[in-house]
Amino acid sequence: MDAEDFPEIPFSAPDIGEEEIAAVVDCMRSGWLTTGPRAKQFEADVSAFLGGGIHTVAVNSATAGLLLAFEAMGLEPGDEVITTTYTFTATAMAAVHLGAKPVLVDIDPVTLNIDPERIRLAVTDKTKIIVPVHLGGLSCDMDAIMAIARPRGIKVVEDAAHALPTTWKGRLIGADSADATVYSFYANKTITTGEGGMVATASQAVADRCRVMRLHGMSRDAFDRYRSAKSTWYYEIVAPGYKCNLTDMAAAVGIEQLKKARLFQARREVIAKRYHEAFKDLPLILPAEAPEGETHAWHLYVVRLKEGAPISRDDFTKAMSAARINCSVHYIPLHMHPYWKEALELSDNMFPVATDAYRRAVSLPLYSKMTEAEQDRVISTVRNLLLG
Ligand SMILES: Cc1ncc(COP(=O)(O)O)c(C=O)c1O
Repeated sequence: MDAEDFPEIPFSAPDIGEEEIAAVVDCMRSGWLTTGPRAKQFEADVSAFLGGGIHTVAVNSATAGLLLAFEAMGLEPGDEVITTTYTFTATAMAAVHLGAKPVLVDIDPVTLNIDPERIRLAVTDKTKIIVPVHLGGLSCDMDAIMAIARPRGIKVVEDAAHALPTTWKGRLIGADSADATVYSFYANKTITTGEGGMVATASQAVADRCRVMRLHGMSRDAFDRYRSAKSTWYYEIVAPGYKCNLTDMAAAVGIEQLKKARLFQARREVIAKRYHEAFKDLPLILPAEAPEGETHAWHLYVVRLKEGAPISRDDFTKAMSAARINCSVHYIPLHMHPYWKEALELSDNMFPVATDAYRRAVSLPLYSKMTEAEQDRVISTVRNLLLG
């Protein structure tokens, strides 16, 4: 059979069932489409999922959630935000939009997560926030990061775009340790609302500020003004806010997806373990697993081609594509993008670990509804390419 005869294997695929479809239809029939009862329900459900007692604010992306969380922490021009270069641009760009300066640091070569020692060396008296990114759904060393932040009064905002559900020391990321945690529900994430995100925080003040800033800086949201028992047309603008609320149609999907979050994680883990077993004799650095007893969300499965592999990374991804298997690369580090390179005066040799990881990295397809036949095809194609 020729490659064209095989169906294409996507890099990722949303896992949407009849429940999500029915929930959206119900929402559309209800007559209330924008932020309202379903968004509130979704917030309450995420809070309960995290163990309760956590404030949650639904937003239309993690990008917006990071912006709101940073703003709520009081980030201002002149402040510095330390984060990893091995991430998506949104992690650091939110700081730029508030006039602050991202300070990028290198990663740990095993986990590809931010290196706490590099954070320690980058701290200055301008450091306001540290932003760990739980890459691919594997928790950063939160104890080491909090030990740097807490005594210095530095805030910690977790970029948990990949990390639902991920644990650190047996607690879900977002359940307590940091000052705020931001999830993404973008279409390729572990649970999705198409576009969407959520800020989780133990601080009432941070949650209140995020709530006001997500909707124009208004004192009350649209549902309260038009439909709730407290209904009245009056509102006040109390701050220079943004527009990044989550629609009820999206929240309706999120409510159903959250119910399946554990199931999706379990399926992803089975696939990751299958890949591990199938690739262990190949010239690949396999992704780090979570410590014993911890949960890895397995949003991504990032392999790195070892020195001596019979094929380069670029030829590998081309060959996978020719076999109709879509791969990706996580990440092109921020310091290798023209904007960041120039704006922060960065060069590759300032980040030797991330630069090397990028040159070898390939993210293989991984999604909860991936069939065994699809997994088999990925496995046999990777093995054929790497056994030469
Ligand atoms: C690490 C990381 N942070 C933030 C984001 C932004 O998420 P969103 O698309 O929900 O704004 C992404 C999205 O891919 C991401 O991977």
